[in-house]
Amino acid sequence: MKKFKRYLVTAALPYANGPVHIGHLAGVYVPADIYVRYLRSKGEDVIYICGSDEHGVPITIKARQEGVSPQDIVDRYHKIIKKAFADFGISFDIYSRTTSKTHYETASEFFKTLYNKGEFIENTTNQYYDNEAGQFLADRYITGTCPHCGNASAYGDQCENCGTSLSATDLINPKSTISGSEPILKETKHWFLPLDKHEEFLKNWILKEHKNWKTNVYGQCKSWLDQGLQPRAVSRDLDWGIPVPVKGAEGKVLYVWFDAPIGYISATKDLTADWEKYWKDKETKMVHFIGKDNIVFHCIVFPAMLKAEGSFILPDNVPANEFLNLEGDKISTSRNWAVWLHEYLEDFPGKEDVLRYVLCANAPETKDNDFTWKDFQARNNNELVAILGNFVNRAMVLTHKYFNGKVPEITSLNEYDKNAIVEIATIKEAIENSLENYRFREALKYAIDLARLGNKYLADTEPWILIKTDENRVKTILNISLQITANLATIMEPFLPHTSKKLEEFLNFQALKWDATGHADLLETGHILNKPSLLFEKIEDEEIEKQLLKLAKTKEQNNPKSINANPQKELISYEDFSKLDIRVGTILEAEKVPKTKKLMKLLIDTGIDKRTVVSGIAEFFEPEKIIGKQVSILVNLEPRKLKGIESQGMILMAENADGKLTFVWPAENIENGAEIK
Ligand code: MF3
Ligand code: ZN
Repeated sequence: MKKFKRYLVTAALPYANGPVHIGHLAGVYVPADIYVRYLRSKGEDVIYICGSDEHGVPITIKARQEGVSPQDIVDRYHKIIKKAFADFGISFDIYSRTTSKTHYETASEFFKTLYNKGEFIENTTNQYYDNEAGQFLADRYITGTCPHCGNASAYGDQCENCGTSLSATDLINPKSTISGSEPILKETKHWFLPLDKHEEFLKNWILKEHKNWKTNVYGQCKSWLDQGLQPRAVSRDLDWGIPVPVKGAEGKVLYVWFDAPIGYISATKDLTADWEKYWKDKETKMVHFIGKDNIVFHCIVFPAMLKAEGSFILPDNVPANEFLNLEGDKISTSRNWAVWLHEYLEDFPGKEDVLRYVLCANAPETKDNDFTWKDFQARNNNELVAILGNFVNRAMVLTHKYFNGKVPEITSLNEYDKNAIVEIATIKEAIENSLENYRFREALKYAIDLARLGNKYLADTEPWILIKTDENRVKTILNISLQITANLATIMEPFLPHTSKKLEEFLNFQALKWDATGHADLLETGHILNKPSLLFEKIEDEEIEKQLLKLAKTKEQNNPKSINANPQKELISYEDFSKLDIRVGTILEAEKVPKTKKLMKLLIDTGIDKRTVVSGIAEFFEPEKIIGKQVSILVNLEPRKLKGIESQGMILMAENADGKLTFVWPAENIENGAEIK
């Protein structure tokens, strides 16, 4: 593997139109953070770059909905997102934003350079325009009928009913969501990046030179390249964004996907005056961490931009992840189907590492994965508590109990001890190998194996029994157990930084750099340990049920049981009503009408007389169960014949939308003939 002088690691800039959720963490920020923390521990020169993506149409839509400015929206979410990342220990060297001055300048300069080099083509297209609002309409601002499924409220970019991607001009009866008027087509000029011109280069660079990219990434790139690349517009008619910095571009801004990746460059400039060595020196390894919906932009469009500019390096790898679902459904901001990071921390304070652990252990590295609260609980209880926490606790507690918290000496080594020592080194190497190849789940599994090894070692050697007969053996066993714990402090740090801190406190020791670990001599004999507390605590069923209930409520809000009540009928006068003569009566006899499914013949004591009524209730009631019940009966309904039987009146029933019937009877017994009014 080529050795690089330094690393530039970027994580996709999240849109500042909402808070971040577990899908963001699992897909991008946790794996990138693990990678970067590992590199730092290796002593590499590495910078970890991120920031908020603050342009684009969704932000303007949200602002309009709330009646505030787009700047207000991005200010709000930039703050929330930045804090959530910091809380979870995502260790960016800078978390910048694309509304910064540096970014405006950098993105404008970048555009101008390409423009001056003739790297764009200009094209005039027809686009929907809202005459009343006096502005061009982004596809999202247009609704209409979907030509595929007939859904009357499809958006100009997509029909959410049938999932088809659309162009605004596909919509039947298009309407502007700004003024409600029908948009007209109007000519507009835009700048395009001719990706077709870079196709040969990209084919070679990706398909030949980067066969080592993850198969999901490579496959998506191949499919784009096989289809052939088209010019892509890099400007938009919008009033939120970075103005296109050339004459004749009034009212036009850079397309958000043009300016956002340049945000990585601007953020690096904000971080260090020495930014060029990270972006322009071939000895720098650039790695983009992203989700799968970003692949084309990071593997094809942005590299084409960088190549066209001419002075920048290209990414060495783009280890994109697939998506994380939540309890079997796609995570969705608009449907509030998510576990929001700030809400998680309210419910599980101090458990940042538990979420980091679960999201890495279950990361959607090769396929979409599901986050479930049951799995979250199981991994906490069966892995973090039962394996890692249990091992560390036993090593610490036994040392305090038998040797006053002092690291005992190694007296002599038997096969178990030697084996354990070899394993420490083997596991460490396996973790390195997985991390260098972006296999973070596998790396974490090996890291837990180190604690597993510790547990097995204790179970095999049983120091709590030996203490009665062979104190010297116990010294060796606990020394080695504590050495494993000290190794864990370093090895767990990239994955579980808060836990690593705790281990340092327990051990009264500063975790070593990565390369100093892998051995059983990290702690000196006689070193004094601190008293441990619990590393992890069990998560009880009630806490999980609380989360599941919260999600069930969200589901209910998203799909309220549709209101099936029929609309109200037209108004009537009191006189109309008083024409109805409704009485309380008692069912004296009941029998099904032969050869019908629904009809039941009833004999009713109405207080006035005893009469026959035929009622359509036979599907719902057994005759013998209703005899003797009081009912409401409309007595002055014209008699009519049903199946040859004259029905003299009508029993009143309540009927719901599903056709379920129930009697309407008096709340207490009352004389037959009592009037209902
Ligand atoms: N905001 C985009 C998203 O959340 C990612 C932008 S990545 C960048 O999908 F490269 F453009 F910055
Ligand atoms: Zn549709």
